[in-house]
Amino acid sequence: MKVLFASSEIHPLIKTGGLADVAGALPVALRAKNIDVKLIMPAYSGILEKLPPVQSRRNLGNPFSVGDLILLETHLPDSDTPIYLVQCQSLFELEGGPYLDSHGNDFADNDIRFAAFSWVCAMITQYGHLIDWQPDILHLNDWQTGFAAAYLAAWRLEHPPVVTTVHNLRYNGSFPIEQFDRVRLPHDLLNLHGMEFYGRYSALKAGLVYADAITTVSPTYANEILTPTYGDGLDGTLKAVRHKLFGVLNGVDYNEWSPSIDPYIHTHYDLHSIDQKLYNKLALQRENGLPESPEAPVFGVVSRLTEQKGLDLIPDAIEPALEKGAMFILLGSGDKALEQQYLALQERYPDQVSIRIGYDEAYSHRLQAGIDMLLIPSRFEPCGLTQLYALKYGTLPIVRSTGGLADTVFEEGQHANGFVFQHASTEDLKSAIERSLIAFNDLEGWRIKQIQAMSQDHSWDRATATWINLYQSLLNA
Ligand code: ADP
Ligand code: GLC
Repeated sequence: MKVLFASSEIHPLIKTGGLADVAGALPVALRAKNIDVKLIMPAYSGILEKLPPVQSRRNLGNPFSVGDLILLETHLPDSDTPIYLVQCQSLFELEGGPYLDSHGNDFADNDIRFAAFSWVCAMITQYGHLIDWQPDILHLNDWQTGFAAAYLAAWRLEHPPVVTTVHNLRYNGSFPIEQFDRVRLPHDLLNLHGMEFYGRYSALKAGLVYADAITTVSPTYANEILTPTYGDGLDGTLKAVRHKLFGVLNGVDYNEWSPSIDPYIHTHYDLHSIDQKLYNKLALQRENGLPESPEAPVFGVVSRLTEQKGLDLIPDAIEPALEKGAMFILLGSGDKALEQQYLALQERYPDQVSIRIGYDEAYSHRLQAGIDMLLIPSRFEPCGLTQLYALKYGTLPIVRSTGGLADTVFEEGQHANGFVFQHASTEDLKSAIERSLIAFNDLEGWRIKQIQAMSQDHSWDRATATWINLYQSLLNA
């Protein structure tokens, strides 16, 4: 079975969030099960330098009048997973990240950038002879690839089935209707049952309505997005297509995230040597200029600083714990007001709080290994990967009960592996923090929870069977 897996970010090449982790790991896991998966991504600045030399190059012309679109093929570093790169200087070789310029603003031509990328995905899917490899399935991820489903629909030819995975419904890739002609799609797609979206048009909606199957990254989020609270204006659309909507929980790449082999952390440990985790805690405290204290409970955060993550609740909710001697260590970047709020907290508790604004992959591993509890008070969370990493590191997550957090973290019963609260309020979070402090003081009980956490299996290997069944069912349909 041949699958073209399209993503706008792929770890370790470029990453802004969990989508990159998934795109860097699921295809590799599927290939291990003999599925012929190839990746495709835009050739952003600096990407080619991170990859082995290009093996083939094909010019697909200039359909958007922005310069030629060139398809390059190579494979992921240290892996045989093939990857196509879509090269176009004016669209992708820019200063900044994949979506934002160096001032943090959306690129003004994000519609054309991702329409062009998606157009190439659709071309390969429809016209396999172009590259002597035609996928049996086109697997799209998030709005940046949704245009591909629209092109295939617009061409009105028989084509391989399309799966769209929603990692985050909040980012719907919507643009002004007046700009619609820029993406070279016919106007008959602009209707309520097509791409039209509250007076704009949405690339994600195209990915939903024109796909043969839709998945999202946890069973709970799959239900939540059918409601107005979590549906972000697309709940009506999703309800109409719920027969083809499935929740498939993400996995973890344990080659990257295991405390027994992690090259970034101070001391390796596993389920049978949890005591050694302490050395990572002391090293983390040292690294941050905090007093080395084995007893102080250390709370942490590794996150994008956005409204989604509920991080505005923490500064007030954590104060009583800080007053009792706890520590708090954060790595994150994003919302400037939140950054300031956290820096102010650090100023008030300089010996207990350490805030690092920025993005740092290696430090995120040291943080996960060194802290005792990871705070994730998300307002919504499609899956969430950081709680899964925390579990593997014997770091107990404190989460709001939503999306993938609700599916993976439990406070009660024999699977208890963390702390769960219901409402996105300071009060609820504060009381979960209090419960975690009581639990932390019961050494034996804490160890039992850590063992429970570390022995949960969230490997991709488990999820691949579900994926293969889903692909197969589309081929048999
Ligand atoms: P989301 O995709 O919504 O940001 P996830 O929990 O699925 O949330 O994935 C976030 C990923 O990004 C994780 O791999 C996490 O470790 C990483 N991450 C988030 N913020 C940072 C940061 N400031 N530095 C390093 N890694 C980060
Ligand atoms: C999104 C979601 C996150 C999820 C990730 C990978 O960024 O916000 O919850 O884990 O995608 O699917």
